[in-house]
Order: sequence, then C-alpha cells, then structure tokens
Amino acid sequence: MHVALTGATGFLGLRLVRELLERHDSLTLLAHAGSGGALRRITRFFELTGAPAALITELPKRLRVVETDLSRPRIGLSSADFQRLADELDVIWHSAGNINLDDDLVKLRRVNVEGTRNVLALAAAGGRKPMVHHISTAFVAGARRDGVAYEDELDDALGFENAYERSKYEAEIMVREWSRTHGRPVVVLRPSILVSDLPPHPELPEHPLQFVDQIFRTVLCRLDMAGVGIAEGHRPVMRMTGSPHGHLNLLPVDHAASVMVRLASRQPSGCVDTYHVVHDHDVPVPVIVALLERLAPMRLELVEHRPYDLTPLEAAADLYPGFTPYLSHRRRFDDTRVRTLLGASLSGVHVDLDYLIAGVAAVEQPCPRAPFGPSHLDGDPLVPLEMR
Ligand SMILES: NC(=O)c1ccc[n+]([C@@H]2O[C@H](COP(=O)([O-])OP(=O)(O)OC[C@H]3O[C@@H](n4cnc5c(N)ncnc54)[C@H](OP(=O)(O)O)[C@@H]3O)[C@@H](O)[C@H]2O)c1
Repeated sequence: MHVALTGATGFLGLRLVRELLERHDSLTLLAHAGSGGALRRITRFFELTGAPAALITELPKRLRVVETDLSRPRIGLSSADFQRLADELDVIWHSAGNINLDDDLVKLRRVNVEGTRNVLALAAAGGRKPMVHHISTAFVAGARRDGVAYEDELDDALGFENAYERSKYEAEIMVREWSRTHGRPVVVLRPSILVSDLPPHPELPEHPLQFVDQIFRTVLCRLDMAGVGIAEGHRPVMRMTGSPHGHLNLLPVDHAASVMVRLASRQPSGCVDTYHVVHDHDVPVPVIVALLERLAPMRLELVEHRPYDLTPLEAAADLYPGFTPYLSHRRRFDDTRVRTLLGASLSGVHVDLDYLIAGVAAVEQPCPRAPFGPSHLDGDPLVPLEMR
C-alpha cells in the first residue's frame, strides 16, 4: 500500500510519520518546497525523541520526499509529475495547514482551503482512487461557547472566533462536497488543541500554547525596550476576558496521532466519517491562567468583558486575539463515534499544570520581533491609556 502525507514536518505531522512507519514500509512525504530540509528535520525529531538507532538509520530509505507547494495548482508539480504521483497512491493523509489563529483570512485560505482543494484534486486524479484522511479541527464548531458539539455537525450559524476556524470550516465543507460529487469516502479527523510535555527545542515545531508564551515574552521585551519594565518582585494585575468556569480540551499530540491512525484503519462507511479526537477531561480555564501566570510576572484577573480603560500592559498583551476568546469557552466535544469504534480511548495522560509547564517552559531566546506598534507602550504600563 502506497501512503502519502502532507505536513509531515509539522507538530502533528511528525507524530503521524512515526505512527504510520509502524504500519507501512515506506511513506511519500509531500513536503513544503519553501521550507526545505524535510528529511533532516524529521530525522532530528526521531533523534530528539529517543527513537531506536536502527529506525533512524532506515529513514532515508523509507521516506521519499516530494517537494510541493500545496497552495499552487497541481501542488506545484508539472502535469506529468502530478499524474504520476496521483497514480501511485492508495492513501493520502492531509495534515498540512496554517495554524496561526491571527493570520488574515486570505493568507489562511491559501493553505487551509486552496491547499485542501489541490490535495483533493490529487486524490481525484489518482487511478487507484486513494483514500483521503483529512485533518480538520474540533474548532470548526466556531463561536459556540456552551453546550455540546457533535461529530456530524458542521454549520456556521454562530460564526467563528477567528479566521483560522473559518478557513478550516470552509475546507471541511469542500471535503464533504468533494466526497458527494465524486462518490468517494473520506475520513475527517477533528483534534482539539494539541499539546506536548516535550520541552521546547529550536529544532522542533511549536504548538499553540508556545505561541502564548512567545507573546508574553514579546510584551515583556517591548516594555523593557520602552523603558517601562516591570519592577522586580512586582506582579501587576492584568485583566483578560474569560470565565473562571470555562474549560478547554487539550490533547497530548502523541495520543492524537495514535488515535487517528487507529481510526483510519477501520472500514470506512463510504461517505464522510467524521471523528472528534479529544481528551476525555477538559482543562479548567483557571489552570490555563495559572500557566500564563507562570510564564509572565503578572497576576491575571478574568473579566467578563474587555475593559474599555485598557492599561498599556493590557493593550500590549492582547497580541493573540484569536486565542483569547477560548478562555470563555464551556462547550464539550462529543466523541461517541470514536468511543464506539475504539472503546474508551483514554490518553492515560492527565493534562495538568505541570504537564503544560513542561511543554512551554521558556527557552532563553532574544526578544522576538514585536508584531505591534510602540504607541501602546508610551508611559506607565499600569495606567489606563485613557487617563494619559
Ligand atoms: N496544532 C494543533 O493544536 C491543532 C489542533 C487542531 C487541528 N490541527 C490541524 O492539524 C494539522 C497539522 O497541524 P500542526 O500543528 O502539525 O501544524 P504545523 O506544526 O504548523 O505544521 C504545518 C505543516 O504544514 C506544512 N505546510 C504549510 N504550508 C504548506 C504549503 N504551502 N505546502 C506544503 N506544506 C505546507 C508545513 O511545512 P513546513 O513546516 O516544512 O513549512 C508543516 O509541515 C493542521 O491541518 C491543523 O489545522 C492542529
């Protein structure tokens, strides 16, 4: 069986490579031509996670890299190469994506929607009718903050918290339509927020909570550069919108990849089979707040609405508006279909504060490039902007 995978160098993709290599002799990696060094990066992942030496030695033989740009027609290949590749494949795993919650919709659509369209075109062109496993996200449920999101649901009635969610929703709509018009089965896998307790390493891809850590460091660096650094030992209060009763579903990435590959080995129904790949316990928002407080010398106070009298510190810290709404979420993801097939698919790993801290513990790095203007930081960071 000939299996191809997009996004193999990503946070999830690396774990999918590891799982798939347990079941298949070789894989074709549809790697991102713009980034380069896919085999080297994957090999580093195996080395850094303690894979057996024999497996690492075999990687160049077992992994074939095809350089692609999914956002381009024919995934950036010539017509002949595209057709040759399509005709070789029995299975396509589509994990590539842009996961930056704050990117604009045009940019997100390029990879998440157009990229999916071009992967589906590859699947449509393949003479062996390759089976498609599409990695979506549980967050296609959008701005529904309460209640239960079910695996068969897909609508935009409540809108979206950010453009990322919308782009992934649009991709899933397209996948469903493709399945219907081509009469082809597709497996759609919807993970929740993926995390790891593997300490950050410059040669490993980042995960969403590490972005939050970077944002705090950016804020602190910019405050420092503006000469308004926070005095040592002082922990100013920063207000953030969120609910103390909120909870979020965070799933260890290794477990997610293992569940996905097990689900993919099941007999497909013939149309679109959608699965919520989620943890059986949510993480309370106060645990996320405690994590943030460990990352930054501030005390965080959850407030129901965004304050109108933002301090410069609060204005500067709201650098990840795509993420902040999740601190108000109280919905649950129903995963009955997964449990029916795999039994109680418990990860066995309790995602608690210690787990999360291990996976985002700040590594010494220079100040990141600030994505906001200096005007937020003129003056005392603790005095509301309106009062100056
Ligand atoms: N991480 C999460 O918490 C999470 C949660 C739910 C769903 N998901 C979904 O899971 C999938 C994988 O996410 P991830 O965390 O692994 O993301 P990631 O670490 O950012 O990896 C993204 C992957 O996509 C590749 N890629 C990006 N643009 C490409 C292009 N134009 N052509 C070819 N390849 C391209 C990247 O290649 P290079 O790195 O080589 O450029 C990388 O391998 C995504 O579809 C995402 O929406 C993720």
